[in-house]
Amino acid sequence: MCSIIGCIHNSNLDVANVLVESMGKMEYRGYDSVGLATLSDREILIKKGIGRVSHVNKELSLNELKGEIGIGHTRWATHGGVTQSNAHPHVCARSEIAVVHNGIIENYLDLKNQLKNKGMTFKSDTDTEVIPNLLSSIIIEGNDLKNAVIKTVSKLTGQYSFIAMLKDKSLVGVKNHEPLILGLGSDGYYLSSDILGFAKHVDKVIYLDDEQFVIVNPSGYTIYDFKGNLVNLIPTKISKTSENVEKGKYEHFTIKEIHEQTSTVLQSGIESLDEFDTFFNILKTSKRVYVTGSGTSYNTALVAKYLFPKITGISIEPIMSSEMKFFDDCFNEDTTLVAISQSGESTDVLNAVAFAKEKNSKILSIVNTTTSSLAKASDSFIGLNCGYEVGVAATKSFTSQITILYRLLEKFDPSQKISSQLNSVVDAISKILENQKPVIDISHALKNINNLYILGRGVHYPIAKEGALKIKELSYIHAEGFAAGELKHGPLALMDEDTYVIVINPKDDGSTYADNLSNISEIKSRGAKIIGVSDEFNQIYDYWIPLPTLPKLFYPLIETIPFQLMAYYLSIERGNDPDYPRNLAKCVTVK
Ligand code: BG6
Repeated sequence: MCSIIGCIHNSNLDVANVLVESMGKMEYRGYDSVGLATLSDREILIKKGIGRVSHVNKELSLNELKGEIGIGHTRWATHGGVTQSNAHPHVCARSEIAVVHNGIIENYLDLKNQLKNKGMTFKSDTDTEVIPNLLSSIIIEGNDLKNAVIKTVSKLTGQYSFIAMLKDKSLVGVKNHEPLILGLGSDGYYLSSDILGFAKHVDKVIYLDDEQFVIVNPSGYTIYDFKGNLVNLIPTKISKTSENVEKGKYEHFTIKEIHEQTSTVLQSGIESLDEFDTFFNILKTSKRVYVTGSGTSYNTALVAKYLFPKITGISIEPIMSSEMKFFDDCFNEDTTLVAISQSGESTDVLNAVAFAKEKNSKILSIVNTTTSSLAKASDSFIGLNCGYEVGVAATKSFTSQITILYRLLEKFDPSQKISSQLNSVVDAISKILENQKPVIDISHALKNINNLYILGRGVHYPIAKEGALKIKELSYIHAEGFAAGELKHGPLALMDEDTYVIVINPKDDGSTYADNLSNISEIKSRGAKIIGVSDEFNQIYDYWIPLPTLPKLFYPLIETIPFQLMAYYLSIERGNDPDYPRNLAKCVTVK
């Protein structure tokens, strides 16, 4: 996923500074390279480079570019390596049009060959570069801008959004299954992938829908659909909460968002309380219920598989979003798909939902961005309400998702009295955050290992997988989470005196504790070291990460926190940037 931003000032104020700041706020969407193009005295000025916004700005003084109209981009490379020439913006061969793009142009090679046959030259390996050249070639044929855009998008295949800047001082924003928002401010107009990009500059926003484009110039904007029909979308007030997404006293967004969980857990779902009834009624009357997600959100889906049957009598089958198309026979008008996603824009999740919708299944979603494509595609959605999550590795969104699962359980069985116990859960999270020393010491001890195994039984198995994912994402250590009972069916072969194994082993009602202890003995007999995550110390542990004691139901929520902290501190110990781990992006909007 990349971030795209465009701005037209209605004064003769240069836009470069604003655009550099905007890209800095959105670079969690992609941080391989950065670029900026402005229009000054009818000339397109362009600077771009590899690396983070602050680095490239320092190197190239992006913010000194002249011009009161401009476009910017932070890239997560999909087509074409991380090079200066592949960085956006891309300009057409005639240097008339500059474009920044998010998503994929699937038929770019065909288009590129057709354009080359027309004498167009290309400077990059990207799919993006076909857009300015195609638009330029259609304008040269005598089409006005509106019709040229219509003809251009009719030739593009794929899910994309892009912003084109033309020498006549207009911006064109095109949305086709990737986010694009029009911002209306007192000092001008903005286009952005994310509200974060322009929150402090605008009062109202318009969320473009798929297959729509907007032509913006200093005097105003006009929105059309891909057939050329005028579209009238009502501006909505922007929520000012999106303005203050800053690190504050924290060194990184990741550690800040880990600490925010003492409040986000309590807030989760409370803006959508009436939707819980809708969820309850649809789930209760569905013949079959599936749950889907990617990455951390898929681990939440796995937790649901363990939590639901006992309390609700409903079995929920998890299907990884990227695997959904292999289960086409499962869906029909009697089935419900619950989609879990922080961003609501992960292409795998959106494609999974589209698939189930085609089979007339009901769609429920648990999503943080309530203006997202996923929310729009759902029959009903519950918002995480955990605020912006900037850290690429999901933390507070995960515990908010789990909490919403708990609140749904309470809908089915009010005697669970879950909501009234959340304060004690939050107290437990606070205790863990107030006593980080065990995790910090272990992270220091483990910083040079290459493999780490995490075991869990029952509902703790998905937490073992989530803990492993966190550690992979932030420390780049190969971490594997697996069901403790599977140890002797293979993984035990990996255990030797250089091995470290973390066992999630709260002293619950004994359903997992005793069995885990025998697993630990098997592992120790091979010379491996054991890190016990438990509310009770045991001599058998070489290291102990203490958990507060809680009612059994809530352990999955709190035992994640030590893993989030361990992933963060291992990242620091290994010299990584926990907010921007290599090769990853906050939301993957490509298949
Ligand atoms: C990855 C993120 O790109 O996508 C993960 O880095 C996340 O943190 C996964 O869990 C799924 O994203 P989402 O927004 O659909 O929950």
